[in-house]
Amino acid sequence: LIKKIQIMEREIKSIVVLGGTGRTGIHVVQQALQRGLRVTTLVRDSSKLKGLLDHPELEIVKGDVTNFSDIYNAVQGNDAIISILGRIGKNNAAIIQGTENIIAAVQKSRISKTICLSSFGAGSTRSRSSWLFNLLVRVTGLRASFEAKTQQELLFYKSRIDFTLIMACRLTDDLSIKELSAYPADQLPFIHGIPKKVARTKVATFMLDQLDSRCWSRKTVCLLAEDSKEL
Ligand SMILES: NC(=O)c1ccc[n+]([C@@H]2O[C@H](COP(=O)([O-])OP(=O)(O)OC[C@H]3O[C@@H](n4cnc5c(N)ncnc54)[C@H](OP(=O)(O)O)[C@@H]3O)[C@@H](O)[C@H]2O)c1
Repeated sequence: LIKKIQIMEREIKSIVVLGGTGRTGIHVVQQALQRGLRVTTLVRDSSKLKGLLDHPELEIVKGDVTNFSDIYNAVQGNDAIISILGRIGKNNAAIIQGTENIIAAVQKSRISKTICLSSFGAGSTRSRSSWLFNLLVRVTGLRASFEAKTQQELLFYKSRIDFTLIMACRLTDDLSIKELSAYPADQLPFIHGIPKKVARTKVATFMLDQLDSRCWSRKTVCLLAEDSKEL
């Protein structure tokens, strides 16, 4: 118990970013470095991190999240994981197998917190999304990915690790997008129509803010544009 409390209260100084070469992940890496964190990122192609390759606080490890040993080796000596993994084409292995590997690696390391990005409309937020949104998911070929994310949420709740699962919707690089609102998934209002877009940079900031907070520990939190409820 004492060891558990010590792990929970340890200040987070070093993180592992999974999906750091992605459109949202790159913001997580950049903002984490700006905050003075030491960052290890497990990537398949390091050339996608150009501009950051020589950063003294960034360690780039080549690997694949579907290989347990790649994740296990990357997390050793670090304090937290931020996962912004996505599917590759129609392959959802990074979501399901990646999550199984993350949980197993956390259990065998000193990682005290795991923060993961998922999608609004999957898992516990499914019942809050409209028929129109669900139709959009189907016609855009995202159904299998949403099913993988439903499975991912179950894996997190079945585990005993400290996680925060973030369900966001329609990410954009448009910086003019307004602030975010965070809702517990189990108290989320029904979202009519198609939710408004949220900015990737703001989602990255929210994920990093969770490193110092226990507010959303072992919870699913939904991020929506501030005025989404008015739809
Ligand atoms: N797009 C949206 O509007 C939206 C909305 C809500 C939620 N989301 C979810 O948010 C997450 C991030 O979205 P995004 O648009 O930033 O994704 P993205 O640009 O497609 O990035 C996905 C990342 O996952 C990495 N990855 C995939 N499989 C891997 C593997 N086996 N091993 C190691 N890395 C792997 C990719 O690496 P490579 O660079 O090597 O391919 C990339 O860095 C996704 O789960 C997405 O479904 C997206």
